[in-house]
Amino acid sequence: MQKQWWKESVVYQIYPRSFMDSNGDGIGDLQGIISKLDYLKTLGVDVIWLCPVYKSPNDDNGYDISDYQDIMDEFGTLDDWQMLLDGLHDRGMKLIMDLVVNHSSDEHAWFIESRKSKDNPYRDYYIWRQGKEGKEPNNWGSFFGGSTWELDEQTGEYYLHLFSRKQPDLNWENPKVRQEVYDMMTWWLEKGIDGFRMDVINLVSKVQELADAEGDGDGYHFGGKYFVNGPRIHEYLQEMNRNVLSKYDVMTVGECIDVTPEEAERFVGEDRGELNMVFHFELMGVDSGPGGKWDVTPWKLTDFKKIMTKWQTALNGKGWNSLYLNNHDQPRMLSRFGNDTTYHKESGKMLATLLHTLQGTPYIYQGEEIGMTNVQFSSIDQYKDIEILNMYKEYKDAGHDEQAIMKSIYAKGRDNGRTPMQWSAGPKAGFTTGTPWISVNPNYTRINAEQSMADPDSIFHYYKRLIQLRKQHDVIVYGDYILLGEEDEQVYAYLRSLKNDRLLVVLNFFEAPAEFTLPPDISYADPKLLISNYDVEADSDIRHLELRPYEARVYKFQG
Ligand code: NOJ
Repeated sequence: MQKQWWKESVVYQIYPRSFMDSNGDGIGDLQGIISKLDYLKTLGVDVIWLCPVYKSPNDDNGYDISDYQDIMDEFGTLDDWQMLLDGLHDRGMKLIMDLVVNHSSDEHAWFIESRKSKDNPYRDYYIWRQGKEGKEPNNWGSFFGGSTWELDEQTGEYYLHLFSRKQPDLNWENPKVRQEVYDMMTWWLEKGIDGFRMDVINLVSKVQELADAEGDGDGYHFGGKYFVNGPRIHEYLQEMNRNVLSKYDVMTVGECIDVTPEEAERFVGEDRGELNMVFHFELMGVDSGPGGKWDVTPWKLTDFKKIMTKWQTALNGKGWNSLYLNNHDQPRMLSRFGNDTTYHKESGKMLATLLHTLQGTPYIYQGEEIGMTNVQFSSIDQYKDIEILNMYKEYKDAGHDEQAIMKSIYAKGRDNGRTPMQWSAGPKAGFTTGTPWISVNPNYTRINAEQSMADPDSIFHYYKRLIQLRKQHDVIVYGDYILLGEEDEQVYAYLRSLKNDRLLVVLNFFEAPAEFTLPPDISYADPKLLISNYDVEADSDIRHLELRPYEARVYKFQG
């Protein structure tokens, strides 16, 4: 496997709206991020992934872009952005930008033109179809509820939007669209950025017939078969790589809905000339029942391990994994997979240990490093996310119980990850001097960066140590992965191995004490404890470990 800087890096994801507000308007901004660069440097991360900061009417918090080459007014200006890039580079950190090109905003100049007339030169920049018997062209359901089609009165045709009606899908079949995208990417790369995170990139190629999705009744159904990993996806990505990416030393990570490891290999295989990594969603479905995301179901550690192991082994030596346990679209990992009350610190560190000791590049989501948790707002009016608000209305209209709906939102809603970064115990958690665009999680008085930085035993300092360890031990980055104790419902243990170096990672995922026994066929010499979230006696015998609640241990030895 080839050595690469992006394999050895740790990425930190910033959701700018909620990171730091510099001007008191309640909305995070670029100058706010600039004021926290030393914080990021102290943490030790190498790369910042900036969620969209482009001009946008904010129907989906910046994932609806009206100008790809300018900055959203609330966030600042291109000069501020340049200052951010310089500030990162001066500190030896890199910057990757979010590339959102499955769709634009309906307020983008291309779409404003496109909808004007059927013969407008921009008509084919988007996907327009005639209705069928007075209804939408097909029965596809949008990711945010309702149909994927919107009738435009002006020309009497429908346009496709897999997300909100303010996010029309771009027509990648049109070579002019692809060229516009490549030119825009080049423009940013020439400014000196270090790569892209590509939003829902495996949806850009659609089967042109746009046939009905399978499903009962008159409702809307998931049409993934016609647009997930569509027929021309690899052709497009190879073209993008040839025309743009291959000319720069940059990293890429593509968000890919519904991919298996086998499919992922086609995106990230080292001989494919496409992407470096994908974000897959398999683990994010571990607690979903047959009803999908909002059908919250208890998860099992054996399922969790099976998914992780499948990806670790499938890509080993062929491609590269991205490692994440939460982001701006997911609940907080500590509330979902850990214990955000009694064992807040222990479980936050245990999950961090997993994230940083698997093969792949770890992605930390802002606030994770101080143990931020889910939030439970009492009223739906406090929620801002279009997905939550649409789902609430749809479920209410369908007669679902209010309490049950709120329970699902508490567990899975995207706003869990979007409450303001908790910087201090001061007013508004130190995020803003004004009124935050979304309420602060009330637990900021206990959980905040100031407190976490001051406490040498905090989750923050543990992250720092994990990040440093990856830089000191190649086995953590490049080692092969072998799962131990596949059937164990409480302990997640694995070996990593690179030449003679071995790493043993043992994680108690629950509150009850647990035991771990090393399989007898594993030989070891000179074990050294690299990190643990508890005090551990120096001479403990790694053949048999007694684990406390959420205990994590990482040993290095020679095999
Ligand atoms: C995935 C992004 O992460 C999410 O926040 C957004 O709503 C959709 N793509 C649509 O762009």
